[in-house]
Amino acid sequence: MQVLVLNGVNLDEIGRRDPRLYGGLTINELETKIYEWAHALDISARCRQTNSEGEYIGWIHDAYDDVDGVIVNPGAWSHYSYAIHDALEPLAVPIVEVHLSNIERREEWRRFSVVAELAALRVIGKGPEGYREGLEFLAGKDGG
Ligand code: DQA
Repeated sequence: MQVLVLNGVNLDEIGRRDPRLYGGLTINELETKIYEWAHALDISARCRQTNSEGEYIGWIHDAYDDVDGVIVNPGAWSHYSYAIHDALEPLAVPIVEVHLSNIERREEWRRFSVVAELAALRVIGKGPEGYREGLEFLAGKDGG
């Protein structure tokens, strides 16, 4: 089973952003944990991060025929990028939406997510553990 983990805008700077919201890990530390969790679940993960919306969308397009599940944290794009919604919509595999912070309990504008209606699972406000839950969910969806 192949899972793609796509972190979006400003997620590369989580190590510098408010640790009470984002946990204090660097993106490299987060990705290392994701690879370890995937390994323990006997699945294969590929993590990518970009600050370019076009690149992010290109990676979603590349995933259409290639992966068995996708975990997305589009960062601030989650709240307004209909382009990311439309790119995700044709995906035939389960989508997990993860947010490190609890976007439901922050500013009003963070409460809406373009991904929410497409997500088979949403994990919000659980920090890095959210990615682990996402991987476990997708591993459980694996027919084999
Ligand atoms: C975030 C929440 C977003 O509102 C914010 O813009 C981010 C990170 C999260 O993981 O908590 O950059 O997606």
